[in-house]
Amino acid sequence: MTTIVEATSLKKTYMLGKIPVEALRGVNLKIESDDFLAILGPSGSGKSTLLNLIGALDKPTGGKLSIEGIDLSSLNDNQLADIRRRIGFVFQFFNLIPRFTARANVELAMSIADVSRAERRKQAEELLETVGLKGRMGHKPAELSGGEQQRVAIARALANNPRFLLMDEPTGNIDSKTANEIMHLVKRLNEEKGVTIIMVTHDQQLARETKRTVQMFDGVIAKEIVN
Ligand SMILES: Nc1ncnc2c1ncn2[C@@H]1O[C@H](COP(=O)(O)OP(=O)(O)O)[C@@H](O)[C@H]1O
Ligand SMILES: [Mg+2]
Repeated sequence: MTTIVEATSLKKTYMLGKIPVEALRGVNLKIESDDFLAILGPSGSGKSTLLNLIGALDKPTGGKLSIEGIDLSSLNDNQLADIRRRIGFVFQFFNLIPRFTARANVELAMSIADVSRAERRKQAEELLETVGLKGRMGHKPAELSGGEQQRVAIARALANNPRFLLMDEPTGNIDSKTANEIMHLVKRLNEEKGVTIIMVTHDQQLARETKRTVQMFDGVIAKEIVN
């Protein structure tokens, strides 16, 4: 096992005009390869803020964050963009491009360096097959159910062989039956393909399906449960 993410006394204070909002007040967290972590917590407890920092989408205002042993504060913007390219993001509202087919949405996310168009297409089709969408490759988002759209988003997130997947309430916008199916898929990616997963949810039931859960409260990790 190797440590993929390590947060030490991680802090984030937003400024709302002149008023500081302490979203993270000192988070300590270590994520190993093959981990499947759920981050639970009430609205406003700092879950998305933490995910955005781990995804190098935003910068902390205190403490330290390392990805595969690299302290992110030592990187310039280009180097941070390189790190980001190898992180898979999945959001609550899918964020697919409406004009594009499922296949094209996945292809577009692929790094074009050294990969031919034909090879990209083949990889996109394999990923869509992995998430159970073999028969839906030519469909546009509006022609897919919510659960299917989220599967496309997961295939897209896997496109560049990511170090880990970050999922922010991936089942927050779909019904509970579909949510269970998505959870089953994510669990399979973790168990069979060894994909490291960090998932924010406020569904305790779904959190129980992961390997461990941290409970956030008011900008800190209040407790940890190993499932
Ligand atoms: N861009 C921002 N500017 C100011 N305050 C923010 C911003 N983003 C989040 N916050 C505040 O930080 C706290 C944590 O937010 P967030 O991380 O989104 O919580 P969660 O995802 O757990 O609901 C909340 O009080 C929220 O209002
Ligand atoms: Mg949130």
